[in-house]
This record gives sequence, structure tokens and C-alpha cells, in this order.
Amino acid sequence: MYSHDVLIIGAGLAGMRAALSARQGGADVAVISKVHPVRSHSNAAQGGINAALEHAGDDWRDHAYDTVKGSDYLGDQDAIEVMCREAGSEVIQMEHYGVTFSRDEAGRLGTRAFGGQGKARTFFVADFTGQALLHVLYEQIMRAGVRVYEEWLVLELIIEDGECAGAVVMEIRSGDVHVIRAKAVIIAAGGLGRVFEPSTNALVCTGDGMGLAYRAGAPLMDMEMVQYHPTTLKGSGVLITEGARGEGAHLLNSEGQRFMERYAPNMMELASRDVVSRAEQTEINAGRGIDGCVLLDMRHLGERLIRERLTQILDIARDFANVNLLEEPVPIRPGMHYQMGGVKTDVDGQTQLPGLYAAGEAACVSVHGGNRLGANSLLDTLVFGRRSGEHAAEMSRAKAQKDLDDSAADGQKAHIQRLLDNERNGDMFGQIRLDMGRAMNDHLAVYRNQAGMESALDTVRQLRERYRSVYVQDKGRTWNTNLVFTLELGFMLDSAEAITLSAIERKESRGAHTREDYPERDDETWMKHILVRQTQDGPALDYMPVAITQWEPQVRSY
Ligand code: FUM
Repeated sequence: MYSHDVLIIGAGLAGMRAALSARQGGADVAVISKVHPVRSHSNAAQGGINAALEHAGDDWRDHAYDTVKGSDYLGDQDAIEVMCREAGSEVIQMEHYGVTFSRDEAGRLGTRAFGGQGKARTFFVADFTGQALLHVLYEQIMRAGVRVYEEWLVLELIIEDGECAGAVVMEIRSGDVHVIRAKAVIIAAGGLGRVFEPSTNALVCTGDGMGLAYRAGAPLMDMEMVQYHPTTLKGSGVLITEGARGEGAHLLNSEGQRFMERYAPNMMELASRDVVSRAEQTEINAGRGIDGCVLLDMRHLGERLIRERLTQILDIARDFANVNLLEEPVPIRPGMHYQMGGVKTDVDGQTQLPGLYAAGEAACVSVHGGNRLGANSLLDTLVFGRRSGEHAAEMSRAKAQKDLDDSAADGQKAHIQRLLDNERNGDMFGQIRLDMGRAMNDHLAVYRNQAGMESALDTVRQLRERYRSVYVQDKGRTWNTNLVFTLELGFMLDSAEAITLSAIERKESRGAHTREDYPERDDETWMKHILVRQTQDGPALDYMPVAITQWEPQVRSY
């Protein structure tokens, strides 16, 4: 039995930022992660982090307006205001902790342009900003004395008297199952990208955090809002940063045209992501693509700029597509990148379940609404990670630890045994995972319609049946990755169902949710969030109004 004031699930940027602030608030803090912290998916964030710094002539209100517009007016404006107001101090704080942000000619923090924004306000470290932030935060939590349970998997949240009181966890190395008591639990376990195949996300992005909260009774919100990033590499789907377009790269169709002039004549390649992805898909569907892709052309940017600011994608294009970006355009297409929805929280990370918090991609505050602006995700992780940690530390001071014993783990031990006992007449996890990922990518991508989404829901429900008899070949306990992947798949199926049900429910087009059968935005009926909650009778849908502070919905054009 382990015990801490605050337990944080996930060691990416949101988790480590929460850990640091909770520790600074005087709490005994532990982070649990199924991978080593610096292998978290935040590592893959390339392009940068947004903040409107006054000394650079910017204003947080302009950032907030761009974010509201980018969200297609589904983002909660009170939360967006908090994020944008606190962005500058958060970026400066990271610089003081030791992040080596790229500089401008005068030696000050440099910015690059990112999509959907009226000003260049994206601070960056070449094209590996997430990695730079992650390593610095890891140093900081080590220095602060945060305990890290490294390569441990969380199986279930413990709910006692209606409050979250800890978690049941498995040490992957030994296969041992334990109870960790905590006065507050913060879910910062990242996204669910791998529910779709392919995806820009790491293989570990399996929606565990959302699944844990959902199973414990906390609602998920905005789950239909899945972001397809405009520039993912042909074949593998690896991310090619929006920073390339921010530095001036062009998108070309098979006829060599910069087709964005027809879809977003003012912002061109730097329209918001949903707009650019739709434009690309429209070109591809109209036969003006090349092998299911369009082209990203960076040749005119010059070798010096590319080697200095876009060095990682130079390597990625060479290693994964055999393309030299200095000499030829690279084939790219829209690919699953980010889940705007997640565990519904307030601006302090509190979910609807006392004692349970969420932050980062696992959470939905909702600051992204129907479409997230590029580089607002690192910002979301840091601002709301910090706020969750602060609040959880304060809350834990006034609370006693619940009196749990090891029997709280009995249900999960029995569940694991049942999985290991399944006979060899079912599928292994891999086939079910692939069938799910393909169905989601076929029917819940850039363009959607009723028949396609219903067929995906049907598939997901059949896969749930197949999962009941899933076969785990490795019967051992030590480093049983076969078992770990099988357990992850259970969470993925929960997310796939929540996404599909919410998407079928929303009968309009807004942000990333574009329906061929309901092509218009319908503010009259659908200016509201959709929530999904698990009940004894299965998933139940509910609604919440969108918070509007100062920006009434407008027609959106770029
Ligand atoms: O394109 C990118 O560099 C991705 C950034 C983001 O998703 O915020």
C-alpha cells in the first residue's frame, strides 16, 4: 500500500507541471507513468507554444479572440480568457526554469507565425519545443523531490463515498498489482490518438486517462471534436510541423497550384487547421491530389533556415519518406492528431467527481471547442496543469486520507486473471485495435456522414464483443506487454464509442466536425457541448451551454 497527498497519472507536460505546482504548494506528490517521463508524447510536440507578450506589442485579448474563432465558437470563453491571460507568465517561467527558446535577431525570445492567428505569437525551440520543455520540467520535478512511479500502469480509480481516494495500479516490471491512496488524483495521461489509425500520436496514446475517469462516473465532453492535422507524412502519418507553414512553406496540388487561395484567400496556408485539412481533402477527393496526398513545398525557405529552425522534420522526411526537403516537396495529407474533448473540468482542473482532477489533452476545459489552434496545446498543458496542481495541493491540506486496504485491488486482480484465462479462440489485441483504428479513420475523419458514423459505431460495438474473449498469449507476469496492450485496448474502445456517439448526435458542421449531410453550422440548436457519461444502462448523453463572455458567434472566414 502506497500513500500520497496528490497522485498524478501521466508524466507529460501537464502531469509534470501539475506535480511541480502541487509540490510547491507543500503536498507530498507522486507521478505515475507507463513510460519514463521524458518518453511521454509531449516529446513529439514540434512547433511551439502560444503567448501574447505585451513587450512584443501583443495583447492576450487578441490571442483569446483568435482562439474563440478557431474553436468555431464552441470553446468556453471564460476558460479561454484564463488560458490566454496566463500564457505570458507561463512561458517566461519556463524560460527561467531553463528552456532554451529560439531567439530573434535582437536576441529576445523569437516568435513564428502559426495558423488561425492574427499575429506571430508562437514561441519555439527549433522544431522540438515539446522535448525541450519536457526535459526541463523533468529536472524540476526531480529537484523538487516528486516521487515517480516509472513504467507503472493505472488500472482503475478508487471511489469511496463518492470521492476519488486513489488508484489501483500495476507495476509493469513485476506484474504486481497495488493500491495507491491519495487525497487528490490528477489525470494528465494525454490523448487517445491511437484510437485512429494512422495517427501522429505515439503508440502509448490510448486514452487511458479518459477511460479511467469515464468508468468512474465523470463525464467526457466535446468528444466528437477530433483534430486532423493538415500536414502528416504519407504512409506513416508522422507529424510535419505547422511551423513549416509558419516559416513560409506552401501547399500545392497535383497541378502545382497553391490551392489555399481558393479556400482562405487572406490567411492561405495559415488558416486554422480544420479549414486547411478540409481544403486538402477536397482537393484530393476532386482528383487534384497525388496518391492520396498533396505536397508541402519548403524549397524556397533555404537551407540555412531549414537546418536552424526545422531540423527535425528534415530528418523525418528523409528517414520516413525518403524525401530531401531541401530539394523536393514532401507528400502530406490530413491525419488524426488531437482530441479536443476529454474529461470535463473547470479552470482549476476539477472534474464533476470530488477529489478527481484532469489536465492537458485528457481534459476538456473547454478551451479548444471545435478546433484547436496549433501551439495552444502546450499552453493548455502548462496553464491548466499548474492550476490543477495548485488546487489539488490546497484541497489535500484540508482532507484526511481515506482508510483503504489492499482489498481495493481485488476486482482488478480478478479481471487480469480472467484475461489471462481466456482460451485461444478469440483475437489477440492487435487485430481488434487495427479494426477499430481503421473504422474510425474511415468514418470519423475530415468529412463525416450519418451512414458512415453508424457503421463505425456498429464496428466498435462488435469489437467490444470480440474484446470479451480477447486472447493474451503471454501468461507471465514480468514485463507482460501483451497484457498491457490488451488492457489499454479496453480504454480505447470506451473512447471510440464516446467519440462516435457524440459525433452522430451533433447534427451540424462545426470546427473539425464536418458533416456532408448537415453542412452548415447551426447556432440555434447546437451552440452547446455534448457530454457522455457511463451509466449502468450504457453511455448516456447530456448537454451544457457554451460560456460566452465577449465574442458573439460570427461567420468564420480566413
Ligand atoms: O504542427 C505542430 O507543430 C503541432 C503543434 C500542435 O499541435 O500544437
